[in-house]
Amino acid sequence: MAMESIDSGRFQFTLHTHVHVGRGVSGRLPDVLQESGFRRIALVVDGGVTANPTFVTLRDRLAGSFDLVHELVNRVSEPDYDYLDECRDRLAAKPFDCLIGFGGGSSLDLTKALSVLITNPGKALQYRGYNLIKQPGVPVFALPTTAGTGAEVTPNAVFTESKEKRKFGINTSLYLPKVAFLDPLLTVTCPKSVTVASGVDALMQAIESFVATKATPASRVFSREAFRLVFAALPKVVREPENLDHREAMQLGAYYSGIALMNSAPGPAGAMSYPLGVHYKVPHGLAHAVFEPTIVRWNVERGCTLYEDLYGLIDGAPQGLDPKGKGAEFHRRLTALYDEVGIPRSLAPFGISPQDVRFLAEQTVLLKAAIDFNPVPISVEDITTILASMIKQG
Ligand SMILES: [Fe+2]
Repeated sequence: MAMESIDSGRFQFTLHTHVHVGRGVSGRLPDVLQESGFRRIALVVDGGVTANPTFVTLRDRLAGSFDLVHELVNRVSEPDYDYLDECRDRLAAKPFDCLIGFGGGSSLDLTKALSVLITNPGKALQYRGYNLIKQPGVPVFALPTTAGTGAEVTPNAVFTESKEKRKFGINTSLYLPKVAFLDPLLTVTCPKSVTVASGVDALMQAIESFVATKATPASRVFSREAFRLVFAALPKVVREPENLDHREAMQLGAYYSGIALMNSAPGPAGAMSYPLGVHYKVPHGLAHAVFEPTIVRWNVERGCTLYEDLYGLIDGAPQGLDPKGKGAEFHRRLTALYDEVGIPRSLAPFGISPQDVRFLAEQTVLLKAAIDFNPVPISVEDITTILASMIKQG
């Protein structure tokens, strides 16, 4: 059985943020702020949500009941460290008691990082890495408007370093949201392309965190449920974007995938996504997803049976197969999902040519830690082989 590799007696698990889940729960925000004694508030709002009717109503209520000292509308899909400094300078001039973030992964990452850059001096770049922040941040309230990374609960905020052309995180628990509101009404206006790119990112987090060598029995509870929910709901939400049951399932799945990832580890597809995002401007979710079917096949062909467990969670999947058969069928089902919702499985649509392979492989290897969590050892040569095979694939 695949679980045997886990030492179930020795692991850690963490979860900090209080959550309100369900349709309309974002409407509780003013009361929660009031009860906590906050008066002067600042908002970070993703440019994509400003026309969402639930957001508009809530924003008006907030503006009517509180001293709204600043409203930062973020129109940058993948912010860099210079932008982060610029936003911090704008906010720092206006004292506020708490920061409220409305947005997808990038905007919530921006909110979290700004919270600690207000209370810790100096340039944002000096805090890239793990646990370099010293002072707790301004309290954060998070309202996700896409179903993606689960940024509302994770101690990671990723930004691009423009000069080195690499992505780095400011990683700390000191900016973790005090309360998050998972209201599907805030995601209902999310456009199809963003729904797919963020939804598949949640799916990648579920799969990679499940098979990672750092997975624990507790993290796997969340990986499994995240996978089950997102795998079933993603094609449905693409077909029926206004169906709140599907939006709710996606939002919950994304939240669980964030919990799973923060208590396990990413994998090679996550590492390979960074250079594709920075150098070829591929949206993060797609950059992450494009590699996964190839990684799954690579692992299955080398005897990894861990996908068997996830395969069993796919609705209607035939169970009378041997472990290798289930791994192969898991790969087939995954690629069928990609084809259904329109996610590429080859690098060709992103303009990557055979000459780019070496450079991409070198950039990927800089994130060696994520690669090392793969259940099957992967070398630099393997990464090059995998990338080359993905240019040929149709
Ligand atoms: Fe990702």
